[in-house]
Amino acid sequence: MNYQDLVNRGKNASEKKEVVIVKNSIDDLKSNLKVVKEFDYKPKKVEPNDFTQHYRERFKFLRNTLFNRPEAASTTSINQAKKSFEKNLTIIAMVNDVTRLPTGTMLVSVEDLTDQLQIIISSKKQELIEKLQFLTLDEVLIFKGSIVNEKMFLSDIIWPDVPQKKEEYAPDDVYAVFSGDIHIGSKQFLPKQFSTFVDWLSGKVGNERQREIAKKTKYFYIPGDLADGVGIYPSQEKELDIKDLRGQYDELAKYLEKIPDDKHIIICPGNHDTMVRLEEPQPKMYEYAEKIAELPNVTMVTNPSYTNIHSFDNYSGQDVLMYHGYSFDNLIDQVEGLRISGGYDSADEIHKFLLKRRHLSPTHNLNLTLPIKKDPMVIDKIPDIMVTGHIHKAKIGSYKSTISISGSCWQSITPFQEKMGHKPDPGMIPITNLKTRKSKMLSFK
Ligand SMILES: [Fe+2]
Ligand SMILES: [Fe+2]
Repeated sequence: MNYQDLVNRGKNASEKKEVVIVKNSIDDLKSNLKVVKEFDYKPKKVEPNDFTQHYRERFKFLRNTLFNRPEAASTTSINQAKKSFEKNLTIIAMVNDVTRLPTGTMLVSVEDLTDQLQIIISSKKQELIEKLQFLTLDEVLIFKGSIVNEKMFLSDIIWPDVPQKKEEYAPDDVYAVFSGDIHIGSKQFLPKQFSTFVDWLSGKVGNERQREIAKKTKYFYIPGDLADGVGIYPSQEKELDIKDLRGQYDELAKYLEKIPDDKHIIICPGNHDTMVRLEEPQPKMYEYAEKIAELPNVTMVTNPSYTNIHSFDNYSGQDVLMYHGYSFDNLIDQVEGLRISGGYDSADEIHKFLLKRRHLSPTHNLNLTLPIKKDPMVIDKIPDIMVTGHIHKAKIGSYKSTISISGSCWQSITPFQEKMGHKPDPGMIPITNLKTRKSKMLSFK
């Protein structure tokens, strides 16, 4: 099947359909990649009703997820709760507004499909106040408390969260590497370091052990920002070595074509890949990146997407959720708890935050999203591996049974990042052994 067939197939696929691509090749170790979930959107005039429907559907999905929790027993609707005199009430609602009074007391306004409700959290409830540092607008959760004069006095909150899954271990000693944010075309792109990485992956450099690992690496995930793009910000042109988009991707193709065909390269777009729209879900790239898309071992996917790697016989493989991470800037800016937990230095905390909310972009204004009826940003499938990029800082972590991976970058610090106080860490490559599910960091500094 050639790439255009795939593009056409992707265009025709509904969001529910699974697109499956299976590639088997290799010298001594087999590999297997399946695209299990990606998102299509046919451009149309967006009506206000599309957003209403989008949020209703999201609410329903998260409410159903919360219903599976034991804490959701005897949940009532807000309109019924307001009439009740019971001491312990449980509601499932979406957060509309959060206010902190000078006294330290917090007011949270929430709604469900029946009504709105104001929730009061006394400053004396320190444990709850600390939990609420992680609250973000539009998220859906369980609220427990008592009702007085149609207001709830909060006793606890519970997030949808992910259940602990049985961890599956690959029968083979096989590896996946994760590294996006190449930003080719930028004056800050690091060609020497990126070349060394490509040479290592091609088995040309490194000691015996390092070459052995390279040989066993069969999956290379690139979570977006392949090129620096054009017209991203005013006077970006001054920061570019390659000023045209096609030139940037053609240059990257020269590196990627050196990588042996037995290694699957899985690529989604990021906010710098300007040939596709910025609104998420972003479609898979083709135009301007034809030379990359047509490489025999490259699979372009949407942002976000789910792929499954290395399933054979009785082993179901690893489900990998890849998302570029454009929502992270505003998330760090808006959520106090994430800043306290390390902000840009703690991508694992951001992943944990998103997995607990079962959503990649819980608040409306975090990024530009399209009001697709079935929300593509909900995490309805629990990933074995979650990989993101965008923040240019590599991190390995885990939450429950999900391995959390943040890729670094191949671009030194830009004047914009310097101004914002960011500290990118280029050339650090997370690598995961699918047999042991252990990850480590390789350095190509
Ligand atoms: Fe980037
Ligand atoms: Fe980015």
